[in-house]
Amino acid sequence: MRKKLLLGNWKMNKTPEEAKAFALASKDVVDFALAHNVDIGVAPTFVCLATVLENRHPGLIVSAQNVNEHDHGAYTGEISIPMLKAVGVDWAIIGHSERREYNGETSEKCNEKIKALLAANMTPVYCCGESLETYEKGETNAFVKKQIEAGFAGLNAEEAKKVVVAYEPIWAIGTGKSATKETAEATVGFVRATLREMFGEAAEEIRILYGGSVKPNNIAEYMEEPDIDGALVGGASLEPDSFRALIENLVK
Ligand code: 13P
Repeated sequence: MRKKLLLGNWKMNKTPEEAKAFALASKDVVDFALAHNVDIGVAPTFVCLATVLENRHPGLIVSAQNVNEHDHGAYTGEISIPMLKAVGVDWAIIGHSERREYNGETSEKCNEKIKALLAANMTPVYCCGESLETYEKGETNAFVKKQIEAGFAGLNAEEAKKVVVAYEPIWAIGTGKSATKETAEATVGFVRATLREMFGEAAEEIRILYGGSVKPNNIAEYMEEPDIDGALVGGASLEPDSFRALIENLVK
């Protein structure tokens, strides 16, 4: 039985002061999630990680939004895995479509990051998802399959089980045009089938989230689908009230 997961991706939002206020105000939200056996977390910017860790409910997962695959060196502007571990972070989102689009991240680069995270006993949240053009051409499955195969390349089944996947169609991110639950399930189910081809039964243990305009009023629909194990939420995760409404509706 896969445990459900709600993860808020704050993207480039919140000062440390605002992040602290969220961490303090959301303690009861974490209590509620844990009481319902759901994992819950947020991914603040790097400069807000420490303040969220210091002020949060200890049950709140705190994830980075990215990480560099090298431990140290001449990589100006980057943050390494040992640095994250030193402040107490052991999750990282990898390959978000915004990083693929604006920072040129490839699935092959994501694969290096995933391997480095697993070697450090950290949890990667590997994002995949197609553009509107790819979707309209009916090429979603072929596109997502390549992302999954490249991102998971070289892992064994035990390692693969430790990765969380997030399927986020780019056309649904920040647009208010969420995928229907049927569309989301079709692709998430296809992702699981791809993982089954690669890792056999281990695929049944890999958590796959849906993301893209998930809101308090539509999250419950996705949770009805057999392959969708939770949500990666942007805008609606930014305020404690909305975060609370997300988890309340997720467990319904
Ligand atoms: P929105 O929920 O704002 O559409 O963002 C989704 C997302 O990109 C989460 O990673």
